[in-house]
Amino acid sequence: MISHAALSNDLTAAFFLRPDDRSWLKDLLGGQVQFDVPMERYTTLGVGGPADALATPTDTRTLEKLVSGADQRSIPWLVVGGGSNLLVKDGGIRGIVILLGAHYKGIAETGSDAARPKLRVKAGTRLSTLCRYTIDHGLAGLGFALGIPGSVGGSILMNAGTAGGSIQDVLTSVSVLWPGGRIERIEKKDLVFGYRRLTLPGWEVTPRSGEINDNRKGVIVDGVFVFEPGDAGQLKSDARRIKKERRQRQPVGKASAGCFFKNPVDHPPAGRLIDLAGLKGNRVGDAQVSMQHGNFIINRGKACAADILNLAEIIENQVLARFGVQLEPEVIIVGESNHATKSI
Ligand code: EPU
Repeated sequence: MISHAALSNDLTAAFFLRPDDRSWLKDLLGGQVQFDVPMERYTTLGVGGPADALATPTDTRTLEKLVSGADQRSIPWLVVGGGSNLLVKDGGIRGIVILLGAHYKGIAETGSDAARPKLRVKAGTRLSTLCRYTIDHGLAGLGFALGIPGSVGGSILMNAGTAGGSIQDVLTSVSVLWPGGRIERIEKKDLVFGYRRLTLPGWEVTPRSGEINDNRKGVIVDGVFVFEPGDAGQLKSDARRIKKERRQRQPVGKASAGCFFKNPVDHPPAGRLIDLAGLKGNRVGDAQVSMQHGNFIINRGKACAADILNLAEIIENQVLARFGVQLEPEVIIVGESNHATKSI
């Protein structure tokens, strides 16, 4: 039998999944699996070639069988949440993309301390849904997350945040599904948070490098968050103000992955450096540096991943030449390249 490893370097990469892999997926998932699915539909940047398979399990048992079975069959897999901090290259993804999106959601009260109300939230729940829930129920603490797109699982993995705070301020534990089916609750003291990232015990590497197998060692299935009792009316008016400020500073509503680069340590923020380098408005095809905020690359409609990556490289080179600062993408870049360009 030809191994997957051999296939992945071959021109037959588009047919990475063997027919019996596809049958196995269909038997396991029924209507919850699709094949050769363009990832541009599942990322907020709106770019990305096809995933060999896209699985949308709705429960932990199916998810466990999927992950264990894929490992046994040596099929790479990657969990995707809201796709809001993800750039999928134009050649797409060889293996299975597991979408813990709207299909895997839920918010439940947990704990008994009224002074420290807690919610257990499934990974596929939208962060915006959680924000709304907390405001409606008078729970304070998530103001920083208003307007951040994406799923709760993704925001935990990315330690999503703003100047007002980040996920680590409100998270108390996560549940992780390990290959083999064991679900482990990991308390905050055993989690290592970094700048826009979380490392779980046992991960030698964090899922930052864009390797499809980086997160195969565990899937975050839910998180428990702690809040402070607050006033729903006050929280609502704070939310309106925070969202308005965000709309003034960032290209809200345009296709982007949020801030593209990490803010460099001991230097001005990436957006400021890009602005000072005169790069706002610069374009490669339909990829453009936002006129509103230098650290946003937007897709004006027909950009492909190569356009965005080429623009990102221009930005990195110019900022390095001008200020001696090497910018590093905050966005996770996955998939295979090809050189097709959709836009002119
Ligand atoms: N600035 C400019 N020109 C620009 C953009 C920014 O001069 O084009 C200046 C601003 O005037 C300000 C400074 O740079 O003095 C920082 O800008 P901003 O307040 O917009 O914050 P940021 O550091 O660029 C960070 C997060 C954002 C988050 C905002 C608000 C990172 C990489 N970015 O942006 O998060 O929304 O703070 O709290 O940490 C994201 O992670 O995707 C993201 C958008």
